[in-house]
Amino acid sequence: MIAVVGSVNIDFVFEVERHPTPGETVTASALHTIYGGKGANQAVAAARLGGVVTLVAAVGDDAQSTEMRDDLASEGVDVTRVQIAGGTSSGLAAITVDAHGENSIVVYPGANHVLTLSDGDRSAIAMASVVLVQLEVEMAVAIEAVQVATGTVILNAAPATPLPKALLGHVDTLIVNEHERTVALEGAETGALTVITTFGAEGVSVEARGTSDHVPSIEVEVVDTTGAGDTFCGAFAEAVARGEAVLNAAKWAAVAASLATTQIGARTAMPIRRDVERALREIT
Ligand code: RIB
Repeated sequence: MIAVVGSVNIDFVFEVERHPTPGETVTASALHTIYGGKGANQAVAAARLGGVVTLVAAVGDDAQSTEMRDDLASEGVDVTRVQIAGGTSSGLAAITVDAHGENSIVVYPGANHVLTLSDGDRSAIAMASVVLVQLEVEMAVAIEAVQVATGTVILNAAPATPLPKALLGHVDTLIVNEHERTVALEGAETGALTVITTFGAEGVSVEARGTSDHVPSIEVEVVDTTGAGDTFCGAFAEAVARGEAVLNAAKWAAVAASLATTQIGARTAMPIRRDVERALREIT
C-alpha cells in the first residue's frame, strides 16, 4: 500500500498568452476550475496506474470540499484518512498556463496547514510499503510522517524549501526539479540518498551512490506542464510499490509524466496503466 501525505487544492487555471510581469495585468483566454493539490494529484497518478493508495490530508468543511473528496474516492484513492477541517476552506491554487504550456502557481494552504496526524493516520503511514510526501503541508507534519514510516520513503521537495536533517535523514528517494534541488540540498549531506532531478522535456537524472543515469522523457505535444512532476512522483511510487528497481521506476514515471502534459489541468491527462505500457512499447 502507498500512503501519500499531502495537500488537496481547488485549482483556478487561467490560460494566458504569457505570464504577467510585476505590475502588469494580462487577460486570460479561458478559466478552468479543477481539482488539484500536489498530494491529491500524486495519489491519483498512482491510483490510475493500479496502485493501492491511501491519502492522508485535510479539506475544508464546505460542499465543494466534500465533492473533492468524493472525486478522489471515485479515482480509487482511499479517502478514509482525508480529514474534514471545521471552519476552514480547502487549499486553493491560482495557476497561469502560458502558450508554451509553462505554469506559474500561487497556493493558499487553507486546510492543508491545519492537517495534523492522528493515531489512525500514523498507523496507516507505518503500514505502508511506500510513503510519499510533499511540502504543501506543514514541515512538522512532513517530518512526523517520514519518522513514522517503516517502508520506502519518497520526498517530493515541492514547493522549494531548505530541508532539515530531521526530514532528509529519513528519506530514501528525493524528487526535485532544478530549482527545488538548489534550494533543498544547499549544504545538505546526501549520503545514501537517491536524488531524482526532473528537467521537463529533457527527462530526469537519477543519482545514487556516486552514479548518475539519464532517463529521457517521450516526445509529446505539450499543452500544460502542471501536474507533470506530480504524475512522475505518483507513478514512481506506484512502480516502487510493485517492486521495480529505482531506474526502471524512473523510466516508467518519465513516460507517465510526459503523457500528463498533453491536456490542460494537473490531472486531466494523467495516464492509466495501458497508456504508459503502450507508450513504452513504442519507444523500445
Ligand atoms: O503540482 C501542481 C499542483 O500544485 C496544482 O494542482 C496546485 O494545486 C499546486 O498544489
